[in-house]
Amino acid sequence: MFKNLSILIKALILLVIVYIGVKLIQPPLPFSMVMMYMVLTLIAIVIYVSLFEDKSEEFYGPISRFLGGEGQSGLISALRIVVLVAIPLFVGMNVYGRLVPSDQPPAEQRVVHPAPPAEFMGLSNPVPKTEANIQYGGALYAQYCAFCHGGKLDGKGREAHGFNPPPANFVDPTTIAMLQESYLFWRIKNGGVGLPVEGQPWNSAMPRWGLMPARGGKPLTDEDIWKIIHYEFSASGHEPRTWE
Ligand code: HEC
Repeated sequence: MFKNLSILIKALILLVIVYIGVKLIQPPLPFSMVMMYMVLTLIAIVIYVSLFEDKSEEFYGPISRFLGGEGQSGLISALRIVVLVAIPLFVGMNVYGRLVPSDQPPAEQRVVHPAPPAEFMGLSNPVPKTEANIQYGGALYAQYCAFCHGGKLDGKGREAHGFNPPPANFVDPTTIAMLQESYLFWRIKNGGVGLPVEGQPWNSAMPRWGLMPARGGKPLTDEDIWKIIHYEFSASGHEPRTWE
């Protein structure tokens, strides 16, 4: 029965089948993907048709006769006008929809320094800022932080180039110079995990030092972290921000 159908009808049936098939895929594909499949199918049909001269006439003939409008009357003629108006309208609406400025906020709008959870808020460094403690923190820094954050605290450690977002640059005036020690303590202890929603999307490689096996297979203690914080401020030449 399919043998007698015009190639044009067969092409339309194929397009409908492909459309239904693509629409059935779960989870639903985005509109642009569906369009891509349809356009690819259409291109395949056109290539196939143009391979054979007789099929070409069978395929394009009805289309060009319909659009040409010769000898049409009544319903067909009205339909032709509708189609001829609808195509430019459709294209025009599409272009307009793409170009019209939107009042939606830009998609990437995350807070780089979200507020710490309540239990970290306002903590102050309990470890005295002595030369010995700073040095102790420096040794820990060299061992556990420098390969990402850099020996010079400039965020250019040996492994830094592999991460996006990149490891923080502590010399830069927009990182620890404008942060409180409590914030640093929170970020070092909890790392990139579990940042509040306003801080996302945030694919941070910053390890969770409160859990990460470090010294002798044990995580860094709170005291270790406070000493590292002393070192970071002293070596970068910044002062922690305090409540003014
Ligand atoms: C695997 C690489 C890596 C290691 C090791 C690492 N960090 Fe990070 N760190 C990052 C990345 C990436 C960021 C930036 C993304 C973020 O804020 O989570 C970051 C951010 C930070 C921040 C937040 C800075 C800001 O401006 O919000 C602090 C503080 C920090 N790291 C301290 C440390 C300390 C201290 C150590 C060592 C105990 C350390 N990091 C080890 C990758 C690392």
